[in-house]
Order: sequence, then C-alpha cells, then structure tokens
Amino acid sequence: MALYLNAAQILEKSERKQGALKTLVYDSKFSNIKQLFALVCETQKFSPVLEEIIVSTKLLKHTKLKMHLAKVLVYDLLMGQGLKCGGSWKATMMKHRSRLQAQLARMKVKQKVSRNQDLLPVSAQQSAKDQLPRYVRVNTLKTTVEDVVDYLKRDGFCYRGQALKLGDLKLEKKDFVKDLHLPELLAFSYKTDFHDHFLYKAGHIILQDKASCLPAYLLHPPPGSHVIDACAAPGNKTSHLAAVMKNKGNLFAFDLDAKRLATMSTLLLRAGVTCHQLANQDFLKVDPDSPKYKDVEYILLDPSCSGSGMVCLRDSGPVDQEEENARLASLASFQLRCLNHGLKFPRLKRLIYSTCSIHSQENEEVISACLLQNPHFRLVPLLAEWPKRGLEPFSQCLRASTSETLTHGFFVALLEKHREAERAEPQSAVQTSDMEVTPAAPSIGEELPAASEENSQASDCEEKPAFAARETDNLPNKKKRRKKKMAKLE
Ligand SMILES: C[S@@+](CC[C@H](N)C(=O)[O-])C[C@H]1O[C@@H](n2cnc3c(N)ncnc32)[C@H](O)[C@@H]1O
Repeated sequence: MALYLNAAQILEKSERKQGALKTLVYDSKFSNIKQLFALVCETQKFSPVLEEIIVSTKLLKHTKLKMHLAKVLVYDLLMGQGLKCGGSWKATMMKHRSRLQAQLARMKVKQKVSRNQDLLPVSAQQSAKDQLPRYVRVNTLKTTVEDVVDYLKRDGFCYRGQALKLGDLKLEKKDFVKDLHLPELLAFSYKTDFHDHFLYKAGHIILQDKASCLPAYLLHPPPGSHVIDACAAPGNKTSHLAAVMKNKGNLFAFDLDAKRLATMSTLLLRAGVTCHQLANQDFLKVDPDSPKYKDVEYILLDPSCSGSGMVCLRDSGPVDQEEENARLASLASFQLRCLNHGLKFPRLKRLIYSTCSIHSQENEEVISACLLQNPHFRLVPLLAEWPKRGLEPFSQCLRASTSETLTHGFFVALLEKHREAERAEPQSAVQTSDMEVTPAAPSIGEELPAASEENSQASDCEEKPAFAARETDNLPNKKKRRKKKMAKLE
C-alpha cells in the first residue's frame, strides 16, 4: 500500500510543480527507492493512456479512488508486474479488472497496435536499442554460474556463450549471455522479468544493474576479512560483498533508515548471507577507534546521492538550477564527510567509493577534495578494459552510462592506503597505485587471492566461442606517471 500511496503523492506533487520527480522520489524516504522510481516514471509515461482508461470506465465514480492513486494501481494491474498490495485496494481493482482490460484492448484495436508502448505518442516511445539489458548476478553463496546457466537452458532460455563485446549484450527474446566484464553476471533482453522466477525467489539470482556490481567486485575483500558497508540498505552490494567473502569474516553494515534496513534483512536472508551484522546507525557516528572495528581493512561507501544516473524513462521536466546546485553541494559535503570518516579506520587498506550520479560534484570533485585532505591515500587504477573512465585527471576511476557501458550512470573510485606516503615528505596529492585492479573469478572451490594478485580468468562457454583466457590486468612495477593537481571541491 505504501508503494502506491507514495507514488500517487509524488505524481500529484510533480504535477503541481512542487519538485523534480527524482527529488520527490528521494525525499519520500521510501524503503525501495528503485521500485518507487520505476513505478512513478512508468505511470507518468503512460499517464494519458491510463487517464483515458480510468475516465471511460468511470473507475473513480465506482471506487472512490483519487485519480493519481487510480493511475498507479491501473498501471501495475494492466501494464506492470501485477498489483503488489492486498486488502481493499486489491479487491476493488480485481472487481474492475476485466472492464479495465477490455478498455485497454479497445484502445489498441482503435489505434491498430498490439503493444502498450505503441499507444504512446511517437516522441515518448522508446526503441529497444535505448533499453538496458536485464542483468542478473548469480549468487555464489547458493549456486554457481554453470548451474544457473543449465537451469535456465532447461527453462527455455537460449544460452549464447560469453559476450565478447558490448554489442553482444543487446539481446532478443529468450537469449542470454555471460557478461564480458563481470564473471558472475548474466545479461538478458530488457523485456525479461525474473520477479516471479524460482531462481529469484530462492535467492539464487539477484537482479542488480551491472554498474552496481562493480564496487564489491573491485573491492574484493578476501574471505575472513573485516569489512564495513557504510551506507548499506537495501543491501545488494552487501550481499555481493558476502559472496566475494564466501560468507567468511565480519561484514558490518550500517544504515540510518530503519525501513530500508528491514527490507535489507529480508534480502540478506533470502541470499543466504550469514557473515553480516546490521546496525541502524549513522556511519558518521561509528567510532573508528572502537575495538570492534580494529581489524577493518576494507570499506564500501555507497552514500546517498542525487541518483542522476538512474535511467528514468521520461524526462522529469525542468529543474530549478539554483535548487539543484544547492542540493548537489549538500550531498557532496555529506559524501566527503563519509569518505573522510571511512579513511580514519586505523587498519584500513582499501575503500571503494561509488555513486549512481553522473555529476562531477558528487564524483571526481569529492575524490579530489578527499585526496587533498588525506595525502596518505591514493587512487588505484581500475579495470583497464572498461570503456568509460573518470573525468580527467581521474582516469583511474570508472564511470558508467547507458550509451557507453549499457548500464545506469555510475561512478566508482578505489582508494588505497599508501604507507610510504605516511613517512615521506609531503608530495603531490595525486598519486596512483602501481597495481591495476581487475579481480578475476576463482574457479569453484578455489580461494580468492588478494585483489592485487589476481589471476587470469579462463572462460568456459558452451554454444559459442568464449573469451580466451585473459591476461591479468595487474601490471606490477608498471610505473604510473600521473602526478596531477586536483581541483578543489567548491
Ligand atoms: C545509495 S543508498 C545505498 C544503496 C546500497 N549500497 C545498495 O547497494 O543496496 C544510500 C543509503 O545510505 C543511507 N544513509 C544516508 N545517510 C547515512 C548515514 N549518515 N549513515 C548510514 N547510512 C546512511 C540511506 O538511508 C540509504 O539507504
């Protein structure tokens, strides 16, 4: 119920120009922001179609629902993944379902189209090429990539081997591939919906965008290590960290939002995560000198951000630039405080910072300010083969985008403690690790090596030729020359 109430309120406020859609969604503090965002975007996109259905079936008169609430309910009932509520709303909507379906069918016949999408004006229609693949992360705490591939093949999906280039991720119908960068990731057509699939419900697969899989994969804490996930809910990255750690070690996960933590608890249970300790706590108030965290060597920091990288299917309209700048400045200041706090943990080796923002204010500028304030940390160059890099001079970092990486917009930076720098004379703030990081997947049963000593990954494709075994991207002794001045965070 809360999902639909929130979505209806946001649509109403957006119509009254009380804020940009994205801001309103974030400000709602709803436990599952992505779910709410998707519902609001889709309902707004289909708004004229939904309104016509509602008006012509006299739904408001029959049910006493208000227009915005009716729209989100009708959207999910007829075009979405089915109603996610019970009680009186569900009963009411089910009572009127056949009339609503009949009206939708009449509209399609009238316009001589077969798909809901084709009812939209041409300007609002999105072609298949603009859609992102449906990414599925195999949860190695419960199964293996091979078992999932076999299961899906028996279930009518068509395995096309390992992707060799980005274009191979654009898939049709029941085709699927192994991703070209991340070993435990499968890609499907954007139309594939796994929400009702056994593998999803049993926690064997996690529905997670490819870019969002980067932080845990690149941080790569070895089994047995002590790790902090600083802003953890709803927990996709926490469950990924646990999988990398093979459920061995201590994974301390913090979040301020109790509701989101409750969702996270369910997700972690379903994923079979056992090495975690959840705390409804402000990360900024966690004491780095507490004996509890004395062995923490790895931190994943994915703090609240503007969410500007999340693909919304419809432009949320004009934004008040002054308001937006103030919001970004406030987020950046929070993100920098979190980063500085994370770097205070005494035994910290590596911290990975990520946002789903495309704004440099929340990405490169935050990293720049942090490095200036923490000269004993440096950036580690990440995934040499990743096509989109951080803005200069931060090419060690990764960016992601719909056009260049077929993912949501994203940013990742890996900071590493530079022990020599602690002893040496003050140096230029920008330093680069000698190691590039491209964690490789171990074969089943093999222990994970430390991130800096990764081995190459032999692939194991079936129907199609797979990647050849890849040279490690670690280039020990490869001296990086960059020593550049950082721009200051304004
Ligand atoms: C971008 S989301 C994290 C998503 C999460 N890493 C995942 O992959 O599922 C940011 C989270 O930070 C939490 N948060 C915001 N301020 C915080 C703080 N001071 N301490 C801990 N958590 C905080 C928010 O409640 C929100 O759940």
